[in-house]
Amino acid sequence: MPTVTTPPPPDLTDLRARLKSVGQSHVLNFHDRLDPVAQRALEAQIDAIDLESLPSLIDRYVKTRPQFPLPEAIQPAPYFERGGSGWDIGAARKRGQDLLRSGRVAAFVVAGGQGSRLGYEGPKGCYPAGAVTGRPLFHVMAEAILGAKDRYAVRVPWYIMTSPLNHAATESFFKEHGFFGLNPEDVRLFQQGVMPSFDAATGRMLLASPGEIATNPDGHGGSLKALHTSGSLADMRRRGVEIISYFQVDNPIVNALDPVFIGLHADKSVSSGEMSSKMVPKANAAEKVGVFCSSGEGPRKGRVEVVEYSDLPAELAQATNTDGSLRFVAGSIAVHLLGVGFVEKLNTDARFELPYHRADKKVPCCDPTTGEPQSPQANNGVKLERFVFDALPLCERSVVLETDRTEEFAPIKNATGADSPESCSRIQTERAARWLEAAGVKVPRKPDGSPDCVLEISPRRATTAEELKAGERPASVERGIRLAW
Ligand code: UTP
Repeated sequence: MPTVTTPPPPDLTDLRARLKSVGQSHVLNFHDRLDPVAQRALEAQIDAIDLESLPSLIDRYVKTRPQFPLPEAIQPAPYFERGGSGWDIGAARKRGQDLLRSGRVAAFVVAGGQGSRLGYEGPKGCYPAGAVTGRPLFHVMAEAILGAKDRYAVRVPWYIMTSPLNHAATESFFKEHGFFGLNPEDVRLFQQGVMPSFDAATGRMLLASPGEIATNPDGHGGSLKALHTSGSLADMRRRGVEIISYFQVDNPIVNALDPVFIGLHADKSVSSGEMSSKMVPKANAAEKVGVFCSSGEGPRKGRVEVVEYSDLPAELAQATNTDGSLRFVAGSIAVHLLGVGFVEKLNTDARFELPYHRADKKVPCCDPTTGEPQSPQANNGVKLERFVFDALPLCERSVVLETDRTEEFAPIKNATGADSPESCSRIQTERAARWLEAAGVKVPRKPDGSPDCVLEISPRRATTAEELKAGERPASVERGIRLAW
């Protein structure tokens, strides 16, 4: 009979010394009480953390509140106007279409967030978003990719970033739904990294339970690292992909593969092809969106960057041009194009390390001395996240393209009010109504001008008014109808 031997428990002397030297010994306080499986899991969790970097991280972001420096001699970033004045929109479209047709472009959605504001159980991508069909966000986006496949006769790979919190559920969802008609070989799900959550008062890592450190996904900026560590960049190279079309899971009307934007990004006369962005004019000075700015002088002169609304001084947010329009008007909608080479560079050159942003949150945890669970009533924890737009100032020449809010931006962030399922459905209907009217179809409207119906156009059918006009469309729209096309 073969004898089964249990491996001896690892010697923790070194690990204890390393933890002590960085002031984090408490994470092993309950180690002796855990069963061997839980012990190994905790050791693996600690092993994955860059312990030696913690003291400086904690000093910089947890014990102090970092102020983000504004760009030197801050000025609004220039942008390409939607109407195409001063640039050749047709040439950009043609260039983008050629790149799509030759398989140079991949779609990339970041879907690792916790979606806490919406309060939906499960990955946000599974949330029903279609105004009429109730199709989940992932399904709507899959339709957009199928549309590009039809239009450009090409397989468009779709990369989906999840987090440890929702990866398994996301994967099951895709399998249950037969990948929404996509070839599973063209859909690649991978997980982003996590960061330990810290005790705001002491800077120590919080314990979720006696055997587990509390963690949070490392922000959408973590995608730039995860694209590399997951092997996705290598997969892109293998497929001949050069451009990554980045968007967020919460915006079902995103133009996921926009040839005009792709062509502008790839225009060497205006762009270094590293990272480009779309903007919408801010609705008002107080709107809570990041704003595209640039430095008027200094080492970053002329470089584009996003300044968060909370970091933009009120006098700048409210500043107006002579015609009364907002001076800092270009609001970020978190739609970007990234060069594969640029993301590779970010991962291989230490000078391109992105900063962290601090968020104060209620983090359920246990008492590090007694192990008793605690449900904080006030913010007790600090989460550190990276933001994707912090890569912008690392680009030589980054372009910003204006778009129209109703055409491309209807995020589902909150359960009610602004940026909610209700506002998203309204915008889907308004956009579809505009497109139908532009194609000569009469749409019933209420006295206040809003459509008297609910409409949804699949991005497989059309992603712009022109595409709808060029293809099949409903002959008429009845008052009060719910119409999905
Ligand atoms: P949000 O900033 O809206 O955060 O993310 P959230 O986690 O989805 O929602 P709240 O703030 O908890 O309510 C914007 C986009 O970035 C992704 C989200 O999935 C969403 O597509 N994201 C965010 C990640 O992929 N990873 C993260 O760590 C954070």
